[in-house]
Amino acid sequence: MTRITTDLADEYETMFTLTPGKMRAIVEGFKDALELGLEKPHQTVAMIPTYIPGWPTGKETGDFLAVDLGGTNLRVCLVTLLGHGKFDIAQAKYRLSEEQKHDDGQKLFDFCADCLKNFIDQNLEIEEGTEVPLGFTFSYPCAQDRIDQGVLLHWTKGFGAPNTEGRDVAAMFRHSLAKHVRPASPSQLFSADFFAAQGLPVKLAAIVNDTAGTLIASHYVDPRARIAVIFGTGCNAAYMERMADIPKMRSAGMADDAEMAINCEWGAFDSFENRYLPRTKYDLTIDKACNKPGEQIFEKLISGLYLGEIFRIVLCELKDDGLLFENQDPDKLQVPYAFETAFLSLMESDQTDELLMSIGIFSHFFSLQTTLAERRFFRTLARLICRRAARLGACGIAAIVSKMGYLDEECVVVVDGSLYNLCTGFSDHLHEGLEDIFGDKGRNIKTYHAQDGSGVGSAIIAAMTTQQKNSPAG
Ligand code: GLC
Repeated sequence: MTRITTDLADEYETMFTLTPGKMRAIVEGFKDALELGLEKPHQTVAMIPTYIPGWPTGKETGDFLAVDLGGTNLRVCLVTLLGHGKFDIAQAKYRLSEEQKHDDGQKLFDFCADCLKNFIDQNLEIEEGTEVPLGFTFSYPCAQDRIDQGVLLHWTKGFGAPNTEGRDVAAMFRHSLAKHVRPASPSQLFSADFFAAQGLPVKLAAIVNDTAGTLIASHYVDPRARIAVIFGTGCNAAYMERMADIPKMRSAGMADDAEMAINCEWGAFDSFENRYLPRTKYDLTIDKACNKPGEQIFEKLISGLYLGEIFRIVLCELKDDGLLFENQDPDKLQVPYAFETAFLSLMESDQTDELLMSIGIFSHFFSLQTTLAERRFFRTLARLICRRAARLGACGIAAIVSKMGYLDEECVVVVDGSLYNLCTGFSDHLHEGLEDIFGDKGRNIKTYHAQDGSGVGSAIIAAMTTQQKNSPAG
């Protein structure tokens, strides 16, 4: 006998639904937070100047390396920029373990350097005496006052490696790169060059947030790109701002008509203030139990790291209330973060009458048998959690679009991350949300998938910085 009723599904529908009115109020609060972050340092939404010098020309060319430390994997890429907005990419992925996320920070950078060395050995022959420019995509909030330096403000996305917050991650990575011994040529063996040639033959040219990398890579290929958003393990956005509209950078002495990419770090929106975002008791539970309670409140309602966990907590509560999995032991479901966000999209897109995908997920991963009514409820719940995430994401996009006055013409927003790419319906929910906020004008906002943006972008930025320095005018 099943205890799941339509009333129960309705209750969750109410809990996880954002009305258009509520969304518009969030957008207004969001716009204020963006402005405040541009005005003063140390604000909740940090609005970090990236020191990326404007848009790429599309003419950047050559071989560049990129190391991309995201929330789940480490990627190493060799990007060959061909000019005319074209590039080739060869890459390798390395899995990060949970232990590495919490082990000493220097060891994390040692691992990055080891993977880079392994990749170079297998893919590249670097001419003696030369160094390949390297972009480091480091997708955590870093305060920068140069493109090749970045002080980690705080870890996000469940990372907690000690001895890293408050330190320059570029210096830490350089330290790890220097530990490797470069193969010396016979002519160098007894010369001073031998010692100079220690370390990997790369030059760390830029520290880049994944959003900023995606923005620049997309613009290289399609100059209409204006805003980049990541809906992945974390959630964040970047866009290009006029220097005149970044009051906190007045003393930097840059021309008012110059532009600079801003890494919004919008995942922190409404943290501490708790004024705008409607949070359910499940969201509060997640926040309380994580390694950074009170922080990244917007991200915790949206990103891939947390959506599966919200779903799991609801199910555990319903089981405790005797409404699900009658006479079964849910011990595997009781493990925090055991329910992957990818399962939500699989369940949401299941078109079979019996909802076979849910049968498979619950029996295979959790040793639980389910009734059809339970599975229907799971599909509804998965959809509600993803829809809320997408509609909140729409609020963030709407805030940037409206602040920048981009609504009257076509506005291209490039998006990357597993939620947008894999979650059926995410993009539809996002666009529906934009129309709920802006009416018909919301249709002017187009979203496109930006593939490989974070790695390629960081290579392009390394090219922009090194080629600019080397150019006669630079
Ligand atoms: C987190 C990080 C941010 C990153 C985002 C997406 O929000 O703080 O820097 O851009 O995740 O990966």
